[in-house]
Amino acid sequence: MSETHFETTSREMMAFIEQSPTCYHAVRHFQALLDAAGFQPLREHEPWKLAPGGRYYTVRNGSSIIAFSLPAAPYQGFLIAAAHSDSPCFKIKEKSSLETAGQYVRLNVEPYGGMLMFPWFDRPLSVAGRVTAMTGQGIETRLVNMDRDLVLIPSLAIHMNRSANQNASLNPQKDLLPLYSMAGAVPLRELIAGAAGVRPDAILSHDLFVCCRMPGTVWGANREFIASPRLDDLQCAWAAMTALLQAENSTHIPLCAVFDNEEVGSGTKQGAGSTFLEDVMKRISDVTGHSREEYQIQIARSFMLSADNAHALHPNYPEKADDANRPFLNGGVVLKYSANQKYTTDSVSAALFLAICRKAGVPVQIFANRSGIPGGSTLGNISSSHVSLNTADIGLAQLAMHSPFETAGVKDTLYLVRALTAFFNSRLTCLGDGSYRLE
Ligand code: CO
Repeated sequence: MSETHFETTSREMMAFIEQSPTCYHAVRHFQALLDAAGFQPLREHEPWKLAPGGRYYTVRNGSSIIAFSLPAAPYQGFLIAAAHSDSPCFKIKEKSSLETAGQYVRLNVEPYGGMLMFPWFDRPLSVAGRVTAMTGQGIETRLVNMDRDLVLIPSLAIHMNRSANQNASLNPQKDLLPLYSMAGAVPLRELIAGAAGVRPDAILSHDLFVCCRMPGTVWGANREFIASPRLDDLQCAWAAMTALLQAENSTHIPLCAVFDNEEVGSGTKQGAGSTFLEDVMKRISDVTGHSREEYQIQIARSFMLSADNAHALHPNYPEKADDANRPFLNGGVVLKYSANQKYTTDSVSAALFLAICRKAGVPVQIFANRSGIPGGSTLGNISSSHVSLNTADIGLAQLAMHSPFETAGVKDTLYLVRALTAFFNSRLTCLGDGSYRLE
């Protein structure tokens, strides 16, 4: 793995993020990659026909996607990598326009997910998402990406807030409303309608977000860091999908699932807490002619990696990390443990992942929360309540998680692609009682 190879992979991943301002665009972009690689779309509201050796994907709500490759021969189970498509940002409220002093127009927004608010100030932002409109086709949903510096959240000058650097207390309904225009400008709805190619009065509703459109960059004395919006979790989602595109397995179904709504608890119809994964796995099993018992055997012989970014040790705050289980940028894929099972990893699932990475020559580092500092949770244990699989929680080390511009290591994207490719291609035989044969 040469230096340039590391950087090329991270740049490719950041180009994907730049074209994916929202979860809808990320999923649309994945569809294009899968189409180009010969995967066939399956629609949940139509019957499926699956052929041995076939490659397929299906999308729910335009914001979650599952892709998989069927082996040519009968299969034993599934090898699943899961990640999430959403990131914390501001959602534009249905009535989106607020005036100040008859002069300014601001957007009325509310936070989506557990964001860091202060880094959203004073940087160019755009608007993207989807609109649902009445068109000649009936009720139709279209993606919108304004893709220009359109709004900005100006901070209050230090002269008017002398304690700004001591105690920043932010009220999203007061401090974080983006400035859109001077009064009398074209309303947002009209701009959006133009971008969507519909009449403004045809728009019935929208899911529009304010998103950071700063391009990703490679930086540091030795070009060892990357920074980009939405690294959590599009870095892992892109790596998982990239690995799936090149996966080949004769005994298991490699399957990549990218779920929406992880940042708000996964409890939607398309989130990891929904039946989406279970529905797809059960349906694959049914359509390929298996009984209920055979499906249960497949589940017992399956394995899942839940890939979501992890906290690296912060150079200014080493005391926030565990004294020993603390990952660094560029140190390889992170394996996450939690005694309270916020992460699904246990010694058996950890051992499987470590063995796969050892074989693939990919470095692995360990994360555990510093005791007494509760960390975030992720989708692995939520998904497990629907399809209960042997699972390990992994991710890539990053700084400034949930900032609109996050930092990670330039090498780690390729490490994860390598690890997940090796995972998807592995021959894993379940021997029962926590024992496996790995070829
Ligand atoms: Co995440």
